[in-house]
Amino acid sequence: MLDAAFADRVEARDVIVGVVGLGYVGLPLVISFAESGFRSIGFDVDAERAVALNQGSSHIDDIASERVSAMVDAGRFEATVSADTLADADVIFICVPTPYDHAPDLSFVRAATSTVASILRPGMLIILQSTTYPGTTTEIVQPMLERAGLQAGVDFHLAFSPERVDPGNTAWTVHNTPKVVGGLTPECTARARSLLEAVMEGPGLVHPVGSPAAAEMAKLLENTYRAVNIALVNELAMLAHEMGINTWEVIDAAATKPFGFQAFYPGIGPGGHCIPVDPHYLAWKAREFDFPTKFIEVAADVNAGMARYVVSRVQAMLNRDGRTLDGARVLCFGAAFKRGVSDMRNSRAIRVMELLEDAGAKVEYTDRLVPTLTFHDRQRKSFPLGDVVTAGFDAAVVLVADEGWPLDELDGAGVRVFDAVNAGGEGGGHRERL
Ligand SMILES: NC(=O)c1ccc[n+]([C@@H]2O[C@H](COP(=O)([O-])OP(=O)(O)OC[C@H]3O[C@@H](n4cnc5c(N)ncnc54)[C@H](O)[C@@H]3O)[C@@H](O)[C@H]2O)c1
Repeated sequence: MLDAAFADRVEARDVIVGVVGLGYVGLPLVISFAESGFRSIGFDVDAERAVALNQGSSHIDDIASERVSAMVDAGRFEATVSADTLADADVIFICVPTPYDHAPDLSFVRAATSTVASILRPGMLIILQSTTYPGTTTEIVQPMLERAGLQAGVDFHLAFSPERVDPGNTAWTVHNTPKVVGGLTPECTARARSLLEAVMEGPGLVHPVGSPAAAEMAKLLENTYRAVNIALVNELAMLAHEMGINTWEVIDAAATKPFGFQAFYPGIGPGGHCIPVDPHYLAWKAREFDFPTKFIEVAADVNAGMARYVVSRVQAMLNRDGRTLDGARVLCFGAAFKRGVSDMRNSRAIRVMELLEDAGAKVEYTDRLVPTLTFHDRQRKSFPLGDVVTAGFDAAVVLVADEGWPLDELDGAGVRVFDAVNAGGEGGGHRERL
C-alpha cells in the first residue's frame, strides 16, 4: 500500500522532518531523526528555548547537550520560531502539551495545528503525538488543516501516533520502544510507519491500527491501566496496614506468578504529566456518550487521597513516641514526580509536603535533581544530603524511591523514618513502611 517513492525517500534520508513542540517528547524525537541522518527542524514558540538549542544546550535531562550540538554542527538540526523555516519540512510531528483543567485543554494543539495549516502543502505528512481523547485527530486537527482547501488522506496525509517516552528510562528509548500508529487512510498509516521505522532499532517495532481514534485510545488505555492498578494496590496497602500484613511481601509473593499478574506498587499517588491527567481525557469524552467511566473516577480519588494518608501515617508514627507532627522537624526525601527526573509537574511529593506543613511540621526536603522548589508561596533549597543524619530531624519521610538516601544511618541515629515507597526495605526498628 505504501507509495514506493516515499519509502525510497525515507531510505535515502531525502525527507525533511519537522517537530512542533520541543519538550520532553519533541526534543528526543527531533534529535533521533537528526541522528538517523534526516535534516530535522524543531519549531517551538519559546524563543529562548530555540536559541539555547541552536547553541547546543539541551533543557531535557535525557538529552545530553553534546547530542544537540553535534546535530547542530552537522547541519542536521535547527530550532526555530519561524513557521517559514518549518515550511521546509515534508513531515511534521505535533508534540505540544495537552493539560487538563476540568476539561481537556487543547489550546496548544489548536495553536500548533494552526501553524502547520499555515504552511501545509500537498504531499505533506502530519502526525499528532500529543496524548489526547479519541477523535481529536479527525474532529479538531483534520478540519483545521483542511480549511485552506487541501483534503486529508488525498492531498496530504494525517495520522496519530502516541508517544511512549519514559523520562529517565535508559533501557527503553525512542529507538526500541514499539510505536502504535493509526492513519486516516492505509496510505497515511503506511507512510507514518515507514518514517517511524527509520529511527527504530529493528523491523516490526511499529504497530499499525485501523484509525487515528484507535491509536488515541490505545494510549489512554495504557495510562488508565496504570492509574487503576496503582489505585488498586494503594487501596490494598491501606487495608494490609489495618490487617497487620506486610504489603510489600504480599506483592512480591503475587509477582512470582508467571502469568496473569503484573506487579504495581503503592506510594504517594502517581504524579507527572501523564498518569494523573490522561485518564480524565477519556472520562471527559465518555460523557459525550452518556457513559460513566467508574474505574477512572475511583482510581483518581484513591490516588489523590494517598498524600493525606501518608501524612496521617507520619502523624501516627510520631504519636507512638508521644510526639506530635505540630512543631516536628520533618525531612522529605524526594521532590520530583518520580525517581531519576527533575520534572516537578503534578508532583505528589509537593502535596505531601504542603499537608505536612499545614499540620504544623517544619518541612525540609532533599533531592539531588531539584535544587530549589516553591510551595506555600515560599522558595526552599534542597537540604544537603550529607548533613541529614546529624541535623536533628524528628522524622524523615521517603516520597521518591531514589538510591542514596541514608536510611540505615538515620536508623542508627534513632530518627523515625516513614518510607512511603519502600526505598530502603524493611530497615531497623525506627523505620516504618507504607
Ligand atoms: N513527558 C512525557 O513523559 C510524555 C510521555 C508521553 C506522552 N506525552 C505527551 O506528549 C505531549 C507533549 O508533552 P511534553 O512533556 O513534551 O510537553 P513539554 O511541556 O515538555 O513541551 C512542550 C513544548 O511545546 C512547546 N509549545 C507549546 N505550544 C506550542 C505551539 N503552539 N507551537 C510550538 N510549540 C509549542 C512548548 O514551548 C514546549 O517547549 C503531551 O500531550 C503529553 O501528554 C508526554
